[in-house]
Amino acid sequence: MRKKIVAGNWKMNLDISEGIELATTINSHFLTSPLEGKEVILCTPFIHLNAVSAIVKTAGVSVGAQNCSNHKSGAYTGEISASMIHSTGAKNVIIGHSERRIYYAENDSMLAEKTAEALRNNLRVIFCCGEVLPERESNAHFDVVKRQLENGLFMLPEDDFRKCVIAYEPVWAIGTGKTASPAQAQEMHHFIRGLVEKHYGTKVAADTTILYGGSCKASNAAELFANPDVDGGLIGGASLLKDEFCNIVKAL
Ligand code: 13P
Repeated sequence: MRKKIVAGNWKMNLDISEGIELATTINSHFLTSPLEGKEVILCTPFIHLNAVSAIVKTAGVSVGAQNCSNHKSGAYTGEISASMIHSTGAKNVIIGHSERRIYYAENDSMLAEKTAEALRNNLRVIFCCGEVLPERESNAHFDVVKRQLENGLFMLPEDDFRKCVIAYEPVWAIGTGKTASPAQAQEMHHFIRGLVEKHYGTKVAADTTILYGGSCKASNAAELFANPDVDGGLIGGASLLKDEFCNIVKAL
């Protein structure tokens, strides 16, 4: 079913006590202001997952990781498996964030393995796609997003695909303060839904949740979320600020 979701990606920020404090205040906020069908996901650093999962008990709020290994288990020093993530109580995982693709050279085939491994371990996948600035400037952005989705996600059978959320994050808008315009976001989200329709049919396309990410904040969230194909946001910097984050959720 298509959902309305605001996911916070804390990235590599907050020590454990700061993480616990933020999760506690967000959890209490949604206890007193119920989400009424919307969902909130807190994607924390790995070491916070267990503690934050124990705190987050409000209906509609869940926890996610920001990455997982493509391997099941074994001699992969420093890696974290999908089953370990699941064992913390986390229910979601971000796969294919541009910072993983760019800084850690994660390619489409590795991301396809990560996605499959996450799904095997009952995690919902938030699969990221998005172009860098030169690709947009050369009008290659649709081709780039199509390739990322075809190689990383559309190999899934329908049942598995339905357990995934897509996040469109134009790389030029991440952490830059430069947001995609509502029209640019809608144009790409509509294109993505069309791709889903081609691969899985009209019903699955209508049910697919597509989030926007990239300098989304309380002041621009409402105009982005007003678009018919934008089902919520994946929020970086603003997810570290309790009031800002809760106001983004309110705008959905
Ligand atoms: P900002 O909201 O900080 O631009 O980050 C977006 C993002 O990368 C979320 O995954």
